Amino acid sequence: MKLLHLDSSILGENSVSRAVSAAVVAQLKSAHPDLEVAYRDLVADPLPHLTLAALADHELVDQFLASDVVVIGAAMYNFSLATQLKAWIDRVSIAGKTFRYTEAGAQGLAGGKRVIVALSRGGLYGAGSPAAAMEHAETYLRGVFGFLGVTDLEFIIAEGIAMGPEQRASALAGALGAAGQVAPVKAAA
Ligand SMILES: Cc1cc2nc3c(=O)[nH]c(=O)nc-3n(C[C@H](O)[C@H](O)[C@H](O)COP(=O)(O)O)c2cc1C
Repeated sequence: MKLLHLDSSILGENSVSRAVSAAVVAQLKSAHPDLEVAYRDLVADPLPHLTLAALADHELVDQFLASDVVVIGAAMYNFSLATQLKAWIDRVSIAGKTFRYTEAGAQGLAGGKRVIVALSRGGLYGAGSPAAAMEHAETYLRGVFGFLGVTDLEFIIAEGIAMGPEQRASALAGALGAAGQVAPVKAAA
């Protein structure tokens, strides 16, 4: 079984999303000792902005398609994602590979895999909160993975990280607790 682990926070050891994504991977490794993990730190090893030539290079989309599980550490920056993560999404959203348009509309081709996102946000964006309409990280990821056909999509969210040390500590502890509860991967049908 193959797991692809991505991180995209610029905050290194102070990053919440990196700590939580690592805890998710550790949990899945303990449930599946034979798990093959491929790791990419999109900050230390960044992808260039999308170009027409890059669209023709299918190495990353093929790696995504071959993965049974994808664990993504995602930070909210300026109400959306780190551009490093957006650059990876640009490389796996490829017509004819992960989606296609038919007469009936768009069809996702990347189903059958599980995607787990560890998302960290400085403020609070829950339903009904004043800033909810500014949430373009979780909503974007739900939209794009849904478009690609991924139906098994989970979020572990730590929020209010910038609202003081107590809120940060309790949000981090809650997210690490959720990471430790991530269910094992279901056997393929
Ligand atoms: C450059 C930068 C931009 C940020 N922009 C936002 C933002 O728009 N909204 C927000 O709620 N928090 C924002 N934050 C706070 C981060 O979302 C918060 O620190 C979160 O923990 C980042 O994830 P990380 O710890 O994995 O890096 C920003 C932080 C940085 C460093």
